This record gives sequence, C-alpha cells and structure tokens, in this order.
Amino acid sequence: MTELIDRLQTGDTLSDGEWRFLIEGGYDRQQLFEKADEVRRQYYGKDVYIRGLIEISSFCNNDCYYCGIRKSNDKAERYRLTEEEILQCCGEGYRLGFRTFVLQGGEDAYYTTERVKNVVSAIKSKYPDCAVTLSLGERPRGDYEIWYQAGADRYLLRHETASRVHYEKLHPPYQRFAERMACLQALKEIGYQTGAGFMVGSPFQGTAELIADMRFLQAFLPQMVGIGPFIPHRDTPFAEYPAGSLERTLTMVALTRLMLPKALIPATTALGTIHPQGRELGLKAGANVVMPNLSPVSVRGQYSLYDNKICTGEEAAECVECLRRRVAAAGYEVVTDRGDAV
Ligand code: 5AD
Ligand code: FES
Repeated sequence: MTELIDRLQTGDTLSDGEWRFLIEGGYDRQQLFEKADEVRRQYYGKDVYIRGLIEISSFCNNDCYYCGIRKSNDKAERYRLTEEEILQCCGEGYRLGFRTFVLQGGEDAYYTTERVKNVVSAIKSKYPDCAVTLSLGERPRGDYEIWYQAGADRYLLRHETASRVHYEKLHPPYQRFAERMACLQALKEIGYQTGAGFMVGSPFQGTAELIADMRFLQAFLPQMVGIGPFIPHRDTPFAEYPAGSLERTLTMVALTRLMLPKALIPATTALGTIHPQGRELGLKAGANVVMPNLSPVSVRGQYSLYDNKICTGEEAAECVECLRRRVAAAGYEVVTDRGDAV
C-alpha cells in the first residue's frame, strides 16, 4: 500500500489492478487517511477554508435521475432568489468571515447571461476582497466568458462520472456526456479555477467507474474536487437505491488528496448527512474546505437534492459557529481567507 501511495504522489499511472486494490483492498484505511492528512498539512497546515453557499434557484431544466430538484419532480418546491436577496446573503456572510461566495442553482433560464453578470459585478464591486464561485451547470461558452470578465473567479461543475456509459445511466439521453466534458474544458481554458467531482455509490457505479474518475482527475487537474456520497431522494427514479458508504467516500477523498496534493477538497454536506461526524472524518481524510449554507432559512428546505440534508433549519450564523467548533474539535482551524489553491 505505501509503495502504491508513493507512486500515486509522484504522478505515476497505476494499472487497473493497482487502483482496484487502493479502492477496495483490505488494507488499513486509517493509514491511508493519515497519509492524506499529512500531505494536506504540508500545503495547507491546519487551515480550513469556508465557502458561503448561496442556493440561488431550485428551478432546473435538467432531469438527472438522482437529483431531487430535477424538472420531472412535480413535488419539488421551487424558488429563486433575487439579486437583492443574494447580496443580502453576501453581506451576512461577509460579517461572518466568508471571503468566498458560491452561487449555486439548478439550470434555470431565468438566470440569463445578463442577470448573472450583473450579480457577479455587484458582489465583486461591493466585496473586492472576495472570490465569487459559480455553480450553475452547463451554459454556452460565451456565458462562461462574460461571467469571467465580470469577475467570477471559480466554477464548480461536477463531471458526476467519467464513464460515458455510466453517465448515460444517470441522465436522460439529451444530457450529453460530451457536452459536460466540453463545458469543463471551456471553463479551464477561460481561466476559471475549475472544480470537477463525482458522487460515490451512485447507482450502477462499480470500482471500474471510480477508476475512470480518478484517471480523469489525474489528466484534467482541476483545482477543486467535490466528492460526496450518493443519497437517494424519495421523489426520484433512484429512490430505492442505497446511499454511498462512508468508508468508500473517505477512501476516494484520501486518494484524491494524495494524487492532487494542492487540490481544494470540500468535506461535503452529503458526507455530513450520512454520518454525524462525516465532515470531520472528511477533513481527517484529506479534505480542507467546508461549505456552510448562507441561503435564507425560508428557502433552505426547498433546495432538496437528496433526503435528510443537514443544516436546513439553522441560521447562517449558527451553522458557521457549529462548523468552527466542529473543525476545531477535529484539530483544524477555520480561517478568514479567500482560500485560493496554493
Ligand atoms: N445525492 C448526492 N449528491 C447529489 N447531487 C445531486 N443529487 C444528489 C444526490 N441524490 C450532487 C451532484 C451535483 C451536486 C450539486 O449535488 O453531484 O453536481
Ligand atoms: Fe450547520 Fe452544524 S454546520 S448546523
């Protein structure tokens, strides 16, 4: 195991059998997590970056089979925030120590090129010391360019799975794997700090698919990688599938840290949802970012991607305080910083 980890860190290509061993082998996981933590500390010390997540719209034109806000879910409650509401969230976030705001939403045509551009400009002129991250799905390259010009710094677009065949089992036919990949490529070329990522334990995912994810990350070299367990949502086609496992998710986080030592890797809300200490365990397995919710409490419950999501009742200030305590108890420290990749 230690020899494989050394090779992973030097950027070696591993064989299928070697990857399979790292992902599912019967070795001591604690040792893997400790090694990942050691690497994380080399670059980032015990700093944990916080990102203020603002869920700007629960309308979505996509129909991903796993997601609770998919357009075919008639039971989903829909809302969208106005520019003014978004700016209020940022104001509150700034006071609480956030220096990155993440605007995330479904693929919602209401958020036109212009509307997003205006809100990005407004945030950047009011908070020039802050980074703005967008997570608004697949858009024409021209939109990405205009928003980048307006000051957006980063973009999160999980690839979801690097296997085309698997991608087609998770999405309707008109959502194209090639288009997803083209968007990621465009974001990177434009100059965004780009985030990719995947769910662990999504339906039809086996070790081969996870190997494809790791090889994709190794080639694409994203600055950010979001990894969380799949969690079923009751009103989706995948309602009856089991959630991804804690151990498998932590393993993928740790392997990602070792392969991409400088990456920004969140301990995701989904991880905190499948286990009461999930986010803390994520940090101890190599994650170095947490993304507390800054959305107004009145809409929190409506941004329901999966069942039993945590932190839907808490005010932003409570969430941040809670996370500061949790992060400190785990042996790390939340810092007031934009938290760019080193
Ligand atoms: N379980 C876990 N993660 C999910 N996402 C969407 N639906 C689910 C689910 N049921 C993730 C996707 C998406 C991100 C915003 O949330 O990976 O990219
Ligand atoms: Fe939200 Fe603990 S992080 S309540």
